[in-house]
Amino acid sequence: MTPITPSRRKGIVLAGGSGTRLWPVTLGTSKQLLPVYDKPMIYYPISVLMQAAIQEIAVITTAEDQGNFMRLLGDGSQWGLSLTYIVQPQPDGLAQAYILARDFLNGAPSALVLGDNIFFGQGLQDSLAKADAKELGGTVFGYHVADPERYGIVSFDASGRVKDLVEKPAMPQSNYAVTGLYFLDGRAPALASHLKPSARGELEIVDLLTAYLHEGTLDVETLGRGYAWLDTGTCASLLDAGNFVRTLTERQGMQVGSPDEIAFKMGWIDVGAFAARAKMFGKSAYGKTLGTLGRDTAQ
Ligand code: TTP
Repeated sequence: MTPITPSRRKGIVLAGGSGTRLWPVTLGTSKQLLPVYDKPMIYYPISVLMQAAIQEIAVITTAEDQGNFMRLLGDGSQWGLSLTYIVQPQPDGLAQAYILARDFLNGAPSALVLGDNIFFGQGLQDSLAKADAKELGGTVFGYHVADPERYGIVSFDASGRVKDLVEKPAMPQSNYAVTGLYFLDGRAPALASHLKPSARGELEIVDLLTAYLHEGTLDVETLGRGYAWLDTGTCASLLDAGNFVRTLTERQGMQVGSPDEIAFKMGWIDVGAFAARAKMFGKSAYGKTLGTLGRDTAQ
């Protein structure tokens, strides 16, 4: 198999935060290390970056949890990736990720994904490729939700152009939430460094995106009915996400959000390396599904 050429875009997984909505569970561990059915939560956002053909990824965590992420993910070579670890000393907001990752990015365009977001859908890879191809400005993904007051919301004018972005609006102008996946050009760290903390003391991603919006260089791709966007920040949403993944995985015998599968399909690891991973995990639900995939591919 000819390996897929990696994007020159670099990835960031933001996996810090305090996870207070999951206390006491997250008093002893990081939210993004918790299981979503058969695999750690952070596997899912890493899978999204891999589907965008991104191979160089920084994982931003709290200082206390960094060692556990390193133990779980290593240097990324098991998936043909190069992983870098960065500490966020305090949860000072999503946009701070760009400031912390400035040296890592070194002028490259980026895709930032929140460590507790799960994306699933047939056309995802095409949407990611389109966002990746955009040189100037950025792309975010809008998703229709029933409860827009809980999210950053994008509103549109009569001609369908993006009008504005508002964080958790009391009177939402649309039902389109901005999901936790942001493709921005190489200027993001410099633009983020000009942001002022909001009333809640955070560097807000909405403020950074608004700078691109005012410049006229922000695209919003809407993810339609065939997609699932799940966040896992509360006990109920975490359980729902686990059940969603379980239903799909058991019914189809196929993986949802497996970096091992994607690495193999991208041609970034060979069949021997893939089989060794499936064997290593042979006793678990995750390993069994990988084994099935290996057999399908061999047929
Ligand atoms: P949130 O869910 O907004 O915050 P949280 O994870 O700290 O949880 P809670 O609200 O229950 O206290 O964060 C979304 C994602 O971004 C999540 O993966 C954590 C991450 N994050 C950081 O890494 N650093 C930050 O400064 C913030 C605000 C969030």
